[in-house]
Amino acid sequence: MVETADYPGYASYERIGTRPSVLTQEFPRPTFNEGDNYYQPNRLLSPHFQSEDEERRFGAANFCTFLDDTIEVEHCLVVPAIVSLRRLPYDLPPQPKQDLYKTATDEGYHAEQALQFGSDLRQHFRFRSYEQYRAPLFLRRLDELRSHPSNTSYKDLITVLSGIVTETRISVELGRFASDPTLAPSVREVCRTHAEDEVIHSSQFRALGRWLWESFDEGTKAAAAEFFVASTIARSIPDVDRIADMLHQSTNRSLKDSRLLVYSTYTEDVLIDEMTAEAQATVTFLRHLGVEDYSPFSLAVEGEREKLRIGLEARRKTLRS
Ligand SMILES: [Fe+2]
Ligand SMILES: [Fe+2]
Repeated sequence: MVETADYPGYASYERIGTRPSVLTQEFPRPTFNEGDNYYQPNRLLSPHFQSEDEERRFGAANFCTFLDDTIEVEHCLVVPAIVSLRRLPYDLPPQPKQDLYKTATDEGYHAEQALQFGSDLRQHFRFRSYEQYRAPLFLRRLDELRSHPSNTSYKDLITVLSGIVTETRISVELGRFASDPTLAPSVREVCRTHAEDEVIHSSQFRALGRWLWESFDEGTKAAAAEFFVASTIARSIPDVDRIADMLHQSTNRSLKDSRLLVYSTYTEDVLIDEMTAEAQATVTFLRHLGVEDYSPFSLAVEGEREKLRIGLEARRKTLRS
């Protein structure tokens, strides 16, 4: 076992005096009132919608994919991150370990809420699932990172670090939905209760991140820094193919037209800007740890920009041929 550093302080339900939302077993379902909005307006695609109804349907499709991501993140990222701690050579003190296990119980409930809300929306708007039999883009990227031959000894570490990455951003994202008065009350409510749990989780995963980082030797810090940065980018980069599919499902545009519009609107610079905005809380956290001394975020972003440019160009070329 690696010698453990002192464990940082963190919030818990007991200390804050709240209770996990799972104990209520109550979550809202969509009400489908006229004029209900399910997502913030999309400033890039707004000029291209033919009616308010189209725009509202696109918002609903967008919230469905947000809920899909919630299910995937909870079950395939956060819960695996907690159990993978058992396979790292760092002896977590008993109480933080116990508290992290409690968060795993919360995540299953969040996924259940997301499934119900998303199923209701899909049924009402007659949307089908996107890529039902394939993992979302960010999980595919993490799988690639884990299965790279040079990373085989770091598989569990990558899983744990990815859990830390996602848990440092989700409460901010959910809080934005919960406090937006233009959104339907049911959307705000389902995000509010989740956000309240995630404030606790975020504090616990930050403490875990700080403690692990201080426990790493120099070689592990260098490797972990790269994984942190790669995972941060993967978690927040928009999926252009999925956006095009949402546009197609919520409007009268053909899939080809939707793709043409999305691939020309979401340039590599736009995608990088959106990713950077979503990743801000995580990047600030990583910067404070000292991760950028080993792997500068800006350098990785420039590599990502070039990769995106090549990918978009290939997509446009395929559509034109
Ligand atoms: Fe959650
Ligand atoms: Fe969480």
